[in-house]
Amino acid sequence: MKKTESDNCPQTPGGLKQNKACVIVIFGVSGDLARKKIIPALFNLFDMGMLNKNTRIAGIGRRKFCDIEYNEYIKNAVINKPPCDGEAFKNHPCKKKIEDFIRINSYHAADFTLDEEYAAIRDFLKRTASENKICDFLYYLSTPPANFEQIITALHRFGLSRPDFLDISCAGSFVRVIIEKPYGYDISSARALNAKVLSIFSEDQIYRIDHYLGKETVQNIMVFRFINGIFEPVWNQKYIDNVQIKVYESDGIGSRANYFDRSGIIRDIIQNHSLQILSMIAMEPAASIDANSVRNEKLKVLQSIRPFAADNPASSVVTGQYGPGHIGGLPVKGYTEEDNIDKDSTTETFAAIKLFIDNWRWAGVPFYLCAAKRMPQRLSEVIITFKPAPHLLFNNLCASKEAISNELIIRIQPDEGISLKIFCKRPGFETLLQPVSMNFNYSLSFGQKMPEAYERLILDALNGDATLFMRSDEIEAAWNYITPILKCLEQKLVMLNKYDAGSLGPGLCEFFGLDLC
Ligand code: BG6
Repeated sequence: MKKTESDNCPQTPGGLKQNKACVIVIFGVSGDLARKKIIPALFNLFDMGMLNKNTRIAGIGRRKFCDIEYNEYIKNAVINKPPCDGEAFKNHPCKKKIEDFIRINSYHAADFTLDEEYAAIRDFLKRTASENKICDFLYYLSTPPANFEQIITALHRFGLSRPDFLDISCAGSFVRVIIEKPYGYDISSARALNAKVLSIFSEDQIYRIDHYLGKETVQNIMVFRFINGIFEPVWNQKYIDNVQIKVYESDGIGSRANYFDRSGIIRDIIQNHSLQILSMIAMEPAASIDANSVRNEKLKVLQSIRPFAADNPASSVVTGQYGPGHIGGLPVKGYTEEDNIDKDSTTETFAAIKLFIDNWRWAGVPFYLCAAKRMPQRLSEVIITFKPAPHLLFNNLCASKEAISNELIIRIQPDEGISLKIFCKRPGFETLLQPVSMNFNYSLSFGQKMPEAYERLILDALNGDATLFMRSDEIEAAWNYITPILKCLEQKLVMLNKYDAGSLGPGLCEFFGLDLC
């Protein structure tokens, strides 16, 4: 059969709910996140036929683009990403699709931090909506966090938080807002932001994004736990010895020096990604799969974390900062030699936190959350270590009790999958034990490309499903736990260990009596 152009592009998956036509308004469209993640995700959804064909994308940014320049900007954002990677545009397999996609985009240059710009923003959105007979709006705040409150307030002040500003009748339409991370800087700023946002929008209009929740492997944690009945009976303090959650990156801070130096790895990764994974690993089965039931259970986990022992911080937190080193055989700079980083900076690029969840299921089980930049490789995984068998028949054949614990490893990325470490008798005349792995690997089992986290999350927001977004109380519970740790760091009550870029960070065994790396 003759191949058509679109055979080379991803095809529309069947059976998915068709979303309503809406105007997706991206504040900060000319920024890195929009260029690298949001625009490519929207293109892929468009390409797969998963955006309503009347949906329009209205970009707002500070850069002065004329139409031709903006079209070029959108095109480049798309062709630098799979499935359209690389090739020259004129021979590009997705050329027609990209051109069609460009047609649903438009741009308005504005400094969205200034109130006086909003009358023109309103006209722009009104025009976009009326021309296409659209009443529904999804605002995407992909701006620096300092602008979130200003934008939300201005949307309200200029009547954009309700569809009433349109001249057409809009019964039953929606206005939703996606807010990027970081959502707050500590508990008080997060509370203040929540208060502001909730004074204008109701909770079910707000989609606070943590892109880890959009990753297939993270979503699969709930399916794995609550569909495969064999794990639930052992998923508790009786059988589990400890849980490790690692989010390691080989990258440094790239061009994000200003942001990262103010943030540090605890705010950047642990407060959101790691604690969200933790809540999915530790939650009770929800009453149903709707957004509130799931988030109620995740919230209970976050609220049950034992408060950080500020009087003995070293017993539960280890931090580090990378110095110069090698990654993949190439030399890399130390953190304080990176562009725009002060040579005396004490920002942590490595953190390990030991915590306990004080409830019946998890009493006494340590959870270790570890996150770091400039590790030898990118690796995010959860390791659940089970307690050894109560009586070891083959005790004499093993170095130590710990060495024969079963481990369940949930690999979030790369090489996505799940494996169970078990012990077997090595074939032969002697009884020698050997650890082996029972493996599930996504690419071997399904063979298909996994959707990008942002695709799934944008689609969910369009469909009004907030299950994979953080609710206000979850965010505050996470900050409640993390803020005292950050205070200790600020007061220099926790030692900052140096580690070589490309190494596994400060040796954690000596701190926690466990090899996490
Ligand atoms: C972001 C952090 O939330 O997650 C970045 O701000 C980090 O610092 C990124 O690099 C990691 O995401 P991923 O999907 O590449 O693991």
